[in-house]
Amino acid sequence: MNSVSDEKIVDKIIKKVGGSSLIAILQELQFHYNYLPEQVLGLLSKKLEVPLSKIFSLTTFYQSFSLKPRGKNLVKVCLGTACHVKSGDNLLEKAKRDLNLSDEDMTTKDLGFTVEKVRCLGCCSLAPVVLINKDTYGSMTQEKMSKVLKKYI
Ligand code: FES
Repeated sequence: MNSVSDEKIVDKIIKKVGGSSLIAILQELQFHYNYLPEQVLGLLSKKLEVPLSKIFSLTTFYQSFSLKPRGKNLVKVCLGTACHVKSGDNLLEKAKRDLNLSDEDMTTKDLGFTVEKVRCLGCCSLAPVVLINKDTYGSMTQEKMSKVLKKYI
C-alpha cells in the first residue's frame, strides 16, 4: 500500500462514518484492509488529532481488530469452558496441522486462512464449536475439521 492511496481511503472512511466514531472508523478500515496496518493508524491519528496510543489501546482491547494481516478465511476455534472440556484445544491443533501452520504462525503464507482462538461463541450447547467466516460448525471433531476446511480452499 502506498501512503497516497492509504490517505484517500482514510479520508473516504472518515467522511462516510463521520469523525466522531473512532470504533466505527476502525471497523471500516479493518473491513477494507482485512486488518489494521500501522501506517494507516498513524494517518488516522494525524487526521483526527487523536493520540496514536489511544487508537492502539482500542485496537488491542477489542478482539475483532487485528494489527497483523489476516487470511481471506477466518477460522475461530472456541476455547471457552464448554468447548475446552470437549477438546477444543485438539481442534485448534488439527486446524493448524491441516493448514501447515507452525506453532507461532496463525496465518497461512498465501493469506488464505487465519486461525484464531476465541472465548465462547455464544452457542455452548453445540460444543465444541468452530466458526469459519460466518458459518458455525457445532459438535466438531478432528475428522470433520479437515472436511470443513476443504470447503474454503
Ligand atoms: S464455550 Fe464455546 S461456544 Fe461457548
